[in-house]
Amino acid sequence: MTEALFDLSDRTAVVTGASRGIGLAVAAGLLRAGADVVAFQRGELAPELQALAAQHGRTITNRFVDLSSEESIAEAIEATLARHQVDILVNNAGTQIRHDATEFPLADFDSVMNVNLRSVFQLCQGFGAPMLERGHGKIVNLASLLSYQGGFRVPAYAASKGAIAQLTKALCNEWAGRGVNVNAVAPGYIETEMNEALIADAERSQQISVRIPAGRWGSGEDMVGAVVYLSSRAADYVHGIVIPVDGGWLAR
Ligand SMILES: NC(=O)c1ccc[n+]([C@@H]2O[C@H](COP(=O)([O-])OP(=O)(O)OC[C@H]3O[C@@H](n4cnc5c(N)ncnc54)[C@H](OP(=O)(O)O)[C@@H]3O)[C@@H](O)[C@H]2O)c1
Repeated sequence: MTEALFDLSDRTAVVTGASRGIGLAVAAGLLRAGADVVAFQRGELAPELQALAAQHGRTITNRFVDLSSEESIAEAIEATLARHQVDILVNNAGTQIRHDATEFPLADFDSVMNVNLRSVFQLCQGFGAPMLERGHGKIVNLASLLSYQGGFRVPAYAASKGAIAQLTKALCNEWAGRGVNVNAVAPGYIETEMNEALIADAERSQQISVRIPAGRWGSGEDMVGAVVYLSSRAADYVHGIVIPVDGGWLAR
């Protein structure tokens, strides 16, 4: 009975940025939980996702999208809705650019905001509309510790992730009463390409580990439970929250 609460059989999930990192782990986790997955990404499908889908009798579809382009996103949404009923949307893809705030090129600021925030709103609108018509659906956005904190040399990223937390709440207020759950997961420090520079800096990486109560960086796999939970019936009465999955960082 409890297991059925987290069962995603007969559900279709769109996951953005499933090519690597957290998105790859989350797409795999959703397949394992029984969902069919449509990967919204720029490259080829990861072979491990194809193998996993075959193993679990699920389907995985690749849909090319450049999340910096409104047109590309609109095309991908339309093509997907023509073939699938989308029950779950995981807005995972994101980008980060580092400069001192005084030198931060406005073009880079726009580029981060477009991918991390504007595309998320467009995807929520596009997939949210049929969810609202049906009266059910789950949207999970990827927030960040920088939804709470300011970070350093990443003002656009921090602004975009602060806004993701607010967008999550704003959509909750309009959509919760109509059967659509909009929530977010805020990962802590996760070992992915996004953090390559930090991980390569042995001293900084060690300073971060020491400050994490769990004593280690997180993995993509560590994010799967929270995303599957928020995508499942177990979270039917959960609306507008941001769940930190950070090894205790925010408690410190
Ligand atoms: N890693 C962390 O510590 C951490 C912490 C807090 C929050 N997060 C958030 O978690 C999410 C995933 O992060 P991650 O660490 O897994 O990042 P990652 O390893 O850098 O992967 C980013 C993903 O986003 C995709 N992407 C970026 N720009 C795109 C675009 N214009 N069009 C289509 N896809 C695009 C990438 O696709 P390509 O392979 O085509 O580049 C890739 O699949 C992000 O929203 C990030 O902000 C991560």
